Amino acid sequence: MTPAAFEQLKRYLEFGNADAENIRSLAGEARALIPNVVEQFYGHILADPETLRIFTGGEEQIDRQRRVMRGWLEDVFAGDYGPEYVKKRTEIGHAHVRVGLPQHYMFTSMEVVWRGFFVGLIGDSTSATRRRELSSLHALLMLDLAIMLASYQDSYTEQVRKRERSAVEEKLTRAEHLAEIGQLAASLAHEIKNPLAGISGAIQIIQDAMRDDDPHRPIISEVIGQIHRLDATVKDLLLYARPIPPKATSFPLANVAARVLSVLREEPAMLRIRTEFDPGPVGATIHADEAQVEHLLMNLILNAAQASPAGEIVRVRIQENGSGSLRFVVKDNGVGMPPEVRDRAFEAFYTTKAKGTGLGLSICRKIVDAHNGTISLDSERGGGTTVMVDLPRNKSNNSFE
Ligand code: HEM
Ligand SMILES: Nc1ncnc2c1ncn2[C@@H]1O[C@H](COP(=O)(O)OP(=O)(O)OP(=O)(O)O)[C@@H](O)[C@H]1O
Ligand SMILES: [Mg+2]
Repeated sequence: MTPAAFEQLKRYLEFGNADAENIRSLAGEARALIPNVVEQFYGHILADPETLRIFTGGEEQIDRQRRVMRGWLEDVFAGDYGPEYVKKRTEIGHAHVRVGLPQHYMFTSMEVVWRGFFVGLIGDSTSATRRRELSSLHALLMLDLAIMLASYQDSYTEQVRKRERSAVEEKLTRAEHLAEIGQLAASLAHEIKNPLAGISGAIQIIQDAMRDDDPHRPIISEVIGQIHRLDATVKDLLLYARPIPPKATSFPLANVAARVLSVLREEPAMLRIRTEFDPGPVGATIHADEAQVEHLLMNLILNAAQASPAGEIVRVRIQENGSGSLRFVVKDNGVGMPPEVRDRAFEAFYTTKAKGTGLGLSICRKIVDAHNGTISLDSERGGGTTVMVDLPRNKSNNSFE
């Protein structure tokens, strides 16, 4: 609290020279009571295990605290309540926040201090002077309470600010880091693409030249399979790092879904499961980039298949969704996602799979965003997963035109 703010509080309470004078005339008797009041103060703390726990420094800290408290009380009766008084007391709240003492303790502990002096100083007196003196003392203790609470507030505000600052910084470094990875991935993917095409062509020639019963045929097939996998990963990386702006046309969404299901039929993950397809309203079209939508559906269906135990059904469904969009739903009864996976599933490079790149869903989100659509998922550990994509049906609802 600034001295100016303290002055304002004193004006509010009409605490002035007369009060300082009143307190000074109590000083003699009051000082004699200080050891007593301090003992009462610590009596309350020691009697309460919850409060005592604040003292992590044991007896030594309690002793130090007793001395500090005595000094604090001496200053109460020193009679000088100017700028120095506030300055000295501003630290208390900060120290309390440091040791983790909740601020509501200030009210009860101040009450203990007040009661100690009040009982000791009122005695059997009914004198008006004594009542005025005690009233001045009470006012001062309340002013002290205000100083402590103000510095509590400053400390808390500072803590919140610090926390916010470090959260923002963390986000920034994370974003920079991701941008760097993205660039690195893009250039790496680019470097890999051409030699890969070369290898693929060369292997193809060897395969074509082989006799049907050549014992090395399965090995060559395996090599070609792995090259395809690598090629798909590289394409994903490029797509993620440099998304191509959508080239939109109108086409029936069900046709694309049917095509994707048929293209995927021979995928190992798909061979293990069954699919059920409900094409929804006949011929319902969307206005979108067909190649990107195909990629989107493929990623979602593959994820569903990979998450499913053998023999399970993956349900693919298209629905009218009012409000000018078509809804595409992929529902599996697979392993589902615990909360920590669900929270990060759309992050680039986040994967729980040994052979995953973790780009599937982040690409899906990019594609959906570029089409002004929405994507959401509903998943629980062990409870299967449902992914819903809404894509606008009309040109006017797309953001890229
Ligand atoms: C009227 C109420 C209180 C007053 C006036 C008061 C006063 C003070 C003062 C002057 C300090 C030293 C600040 C500095 O480092 O500059 C302090 C620190 C501290 N107070 Fe209080 N206090 C009060 C209530 C309490 C209560 C109720 C507890 C315990 C439950 C407590 C525990 C502590 C502790 C643990 C420290 C830190 C001691 C250290 O340096 O290790 N205080 N207090
Ligand atoms: N249908 C699903 N069921 C359970 N978990 C899923 C499902 N879809 C995605 N996930 C979880 O989200 C993570 C991220 O998915 P994403 O498609 O982005 O990457 P990936 O499938 O791991 O790898 P990639 O698609 O690049 O090969 C997965 O590793 C998985 O843990
Ligand atoms: Mg995936």
